[in-house]
Amino acid sequence: MTSANNYNPSNNDPKIIVALDYADAANALKLVNQLDPTLCRLKVGKELFTAAGPQFVEQLTRSNFGVFLDLKFHDIPNTVAKACSAASNLGVWMLNVHASGGLEMMQAAREAVSASETKPLLIAVTVLTSMNQATLNQIGINTDLATHVLNLAKLTQQAGLDGVVCSALEAKMLRTALGGDFCLVTPGIRPANVNQDDQSRVVTPADALKNGASYLVVGRPITLATNPLQALEAIHAECNLL
Ligand code: C5P
Repeated sequence: MTSANNYNPSNNDPKIIVALDYADAANALKLVNQLDPTLCRLKVGKELFTAAGPQFVEQLTRSNFGVFLDLKFHDIPNTVAKACSAASNLGVWMLNVHASGGLEMMQAAREAVSASETKPLLIAVTVLTSMNQATLNQIGINTDLATHVLNLAKLTQQAGLDGVVCSALEAKMLRTALGGDFCLVTPGIRPANVNQDDQSRVVTPADALKNGASYLVVGRPITLATNPLQALEAIHAECNLL
């Protein structure tokens, strides 16, 4: 799986996506300035995007970082399509929508992204990992959670999207069901001997890749490290990615 836009002059494909879970641009930049765009991409989520805005995202893309804009769009098809066009115009490498928005919504997103100049990767969230069987039942979904994840991932593929966000524990099942070309982006990654923080089901980077993950989202093991670049390089070394 390669990036659809040519943001990186060396055209490499770093597998680690560092989660910029910061409240403002200044703190995010302190970390970014210590990282190397040939070794990682960056994930900008709702908090940082709401605080720092699209200009900050453009600033990151101009610095040659591939940006995963993690805004999880979920609305009527026309609105999601327009949001996806606007996100694509920022020059991001990847963006996402909620698969539970349905086939028509995802197809509209696909068309909008494909029509953009930069054509970022477009992936979907299946079931948020904060949800369990009980919370699914509360919103009227009585299908078994794993089956629901698989059904939404299949719907995502049917809509022509590039992949899904999933737990590295689900990656093996999804890789088998959806084939080698489908992009699997997995958070909940913890290198061996590192604090699990509030993640309960963690997988090491090497195991996540073995399970079929395409890209690994890593936050605190890098952002809270005394030397973030060293922590990033250690993950590469652990995975033999260098
Ligand atoms: O610090 P940590 O490595 O736990 O950060 C993981 C990142 O991935 C955070 O931005 C978190 O919101 C995100 N994420 C997650 N689990 C999901 C989806 C996203 O941890 N299922």
